[in-house]
Order: sequence, then C-alpha cells, then structure tokens
Amino acid sequence: MVLIDGKAVSEQVKQEIAAEVADIVAKGGKRPHLAAILVGHDGGSETYVAAKVKACDVCGFKSTLIRYEADVTEEELLARVHELNENPDVDGFIVQLPLPEHISEQKVIEAIDYRKDVDGFHPINVGRMSIGLPCYVSATPSGILELLKRYEIKTQGKKCVILGRSNIVGKPMAALMMQKACPGDATVTVCHSRSRDLVKECREADILIAAMGQPNFVKADMVKEGAVVIDVGTTRVPDASKKSGFKLTGDVKFDEVALKCSFITPVPGGVGPMTIVSLMKNTLLAGKKAIYK
Ligand code: GUN
Repeated sequence: MVLIDGKAVSEQVKQEIAAEVADIVAKGGKRPHLAAILVGHDGGSETYVAAKVKACDVCGFKSTLIRYEADVTEEELLARVHELNENPDVDGFIVQLPLPEHISEQKVIEAIDYRKDVDGFHPINVGRMSIGLPCYVSATPSGILELLKRYEIKTQGKKCVILGRSNIVGKPMAALMMQKACPGDATVTVCHSRSRDLVKECREADILIAAMGQPNFVKADMVKEGAVVIDVGTTRVPDASKKSGFKLTGDVKFDEVALKCSFITPVPGGVGPMTIVSLMKNTLLAGKKAIYK
C-alpha cells in the first residue's frame, strides 16, 4: 500500500508556483493577487481561509482578507463582490462557503465575474469544465487529479465510483474522471443517499472517491483488494484528547481500508492541502490572464 502524501506534494507545487512568481516579478510583471471574503466565525471556514492566506505568502502572492460579521446583508456582500469584480489589482477572489442562511450562496456565486472566479463555482466555469473548455476547475477535484497524476495512477478504462453528488466535489469530479484526458477516461458511477446497492457499487470500484461527509462510512468490506481510495471527508468529530477538542475525520475507516488498497489518502494530509494548492494554481493562472483576457 502506498500512502499518498498530499502534504508533501502540496509543498512541492507551492515551491514550483513561488519560482514562477519570482520569475514574473523579476521580469517586471505583476504579483498575483487573491482576495478572500469571510463571513462570520465558523471554525472550519476560519481555518481554511487562514491556510489560504498563508499559502499565498508561500507562493509569493499578494492576498487580501475581507471580513464581515454574520449579520451582513446580502446587498452589502453583493456590493463588495461587484467592487472586487471592478478592482483591476485583484486577479481572483473567493467567498468562503457556507454563508449564513439569510444570504443566497447561488446569488453570490453568480455575482462573481467568472474571469475572477478562481474557485471555479460560477456556472460559466462549471459549464466550460463539463464540456472540456479552458476554465477555472474547482479546487478539490483539481487537487485530486494532481495527486493521481503525480503518483502515476492509471485511470483509463477503470471503474471509478464517487460517493457524494455535491456541486463542489462529487459532480465536477465525475465530469473530470469521465473526460477524454489523462487522468480521466474512466467509467464513472456516482452514488448518493438514494443509491440502491451502494456497497456492491463500491466493491467493484478500481478507484473509490469518498466525498459525502460521513465520518468512517467506507469500511474494509466495501473496498476491492488493490483499489485506489481517495478520502475527501473532513468532519470535525469531538475528541477530548485533542487541544482543539476535535479530530478531523475522513469518510474512510483508514486503519482497516489501508490494509486492502494499493493507494490511499490520509486525513489530514491527503486531499486537504492539495485543495488549497489548486486554488493557488488558479490564482497564478488568473494573474497571468492565462484563461481569460
Ligand atoms: N467551503 C468549502 N470548500 C470551499 C472552497 O473550496 N471554496 C470556498 N469558497 N468555500 C468552501
């Protein structure tokens, strides 16, 4: 069994980005600039945004963090999005999700100029991705593809089962794994809460991608001998022995599944760090105006 070291790969990719940024700046070019809007004080969102700002530093990007209290109005938030759309110094920006109930996430996502949508959540980027046109690909699926590529995991003709159908992970992951590309060219099945014979589907998977947010859902008897297992889960499970009071827990029962598979990602240190690095890659593309002028 090979442990896929997302942390190590992410550090390597950040160094590659930093070298390219240094080169751009040395030649008189503009340092890429990522802005992030964080609403409220959700623990997970605070952690993710802090990690994104830190990664910007490592990559040599300029970053701006814009904070609002949870009672900010939708109107106020949309006005800020429009301001960032118009600001020529900002190459790309994100609005960290989830947003408070009284704000429509979809309205906010659609208000972002797709040319600055480095999260790849805008319908134009989602649509372009699904028909194989250049676009910003959402960070988690893109990070998983990078891991498959760097570990030289064959996907062509393989049966890939994805657990979860979210707009952020499940759906784009399915589109990317079926596309005519490498990684890709797989036969894809998406399972969700209404799927019949989910266990049978999982047992047939050469590549199993668990992204439903249910801690320890995937057990050893659901995994084929020699399968590749990618764990996207990051649920905070209470744990009194931890200083933080919780343990970041994946969707895969790691200890028993690891014994059966050929490759596996740990939680933490697998997909998570790659997600942040994919956002950095999209920001570099935005800074270079590589996808949209
Ligand atoms: N919340 C969970 N994942 C993400 C992400 O990739 N981007 C944003 N903006 N919010 C998230």
